[in-house]
Amino acid sequence: MNASRKLDNRLALCARFVRHGARLADIGTDHAYLPVWLCQNGVCPGAVAADINPEPLSRGQQTVEEAGMTDKISLRLSNGLSQIKPDEADDIVIAGMGGELIAKIIDDCAFARDGQKHFILQPMTKSEELLRFLCAEGFTVLEQDCCVAAKKCYTVLLVRYTGLTQVTDELFYYTGRLDPSQPLHRRFLSEHAARLRKKARSDERWGQLAERIEKIMEN
Ligand SMILES: C[S@@+](CC[C@H](N)C(=O)[O-])C[C@H]1O[C@@H](n2cnc3c(N)ncnc32)[C@H](O)[C@@H]1O
Repeated sequence: MNASRKLDNRLALCARFVRHGARLADIGTDHAYLPVWLCQNGVCPGAVAADINPEPLSRGQQTVEEAGMTDKISLRLSNGLSQIKPDEADDIVIAGMGGELIAKIIDDCAFARDGQKHFILQPMTKSEELLRFLCAEGFTVLEQDCCVAAKKCYTVLLVRYTGLTQVTDELFYYTGRLDPSQPLHRRFLSEHAARLRKKARSDERWGQLAERIEKIMEN
């Protein structure tokens, strides 16, 4: 991997939310493209690239070695954040996994409820379940954006612990901080509505939720 290698839109959006100067933990790193890019481009002084499986971790190792980044990035076999020490990371990226698994990884992490830590979360599925967990457990969504990569629309959430638990309207778990006037946010919302419309064929309550999402897109 050379310095000019570009991230795809999905990882680029995750990278945009990482604070300049933050030490990074990339959980489920696989090929380690994100930590390599962030260190090569001077955003992060160092990173831990972690994965639960040895095979992806060795792919990551190869990327790190090819980029000449072994002094800045350490590879680590870790289930979620279990092998990451609290003082090793300021910003934690968990990307490319299902929303429920991301929620479990955060819930299992002893230092997740430290408001100084930023979590950058990119659920591949069930973003509504991730938001349900975050709201109930006192995590606040600071920012949310969407992108398209390989023709699919993804959302990325920037989150930190505030302790403010919110039992919110079900609608929020689908809409989050998305702004229907932005075309990519609108696309993400309309895909939620379409999925709910499908589910409504067997249970009409989902249709009411789909209608509410469609309504906010009208305004
Ligand atoms: C689809 S890849 C995503 C790679 C990269 N983060 C991205 O977004 O392009 C998911 C990776 O997460 C890893 N993974 C799954 N469950 C995990 C867990 N509990 N802890 C750490 N890594 C995990 C898998 O081994 C796999 O390499």
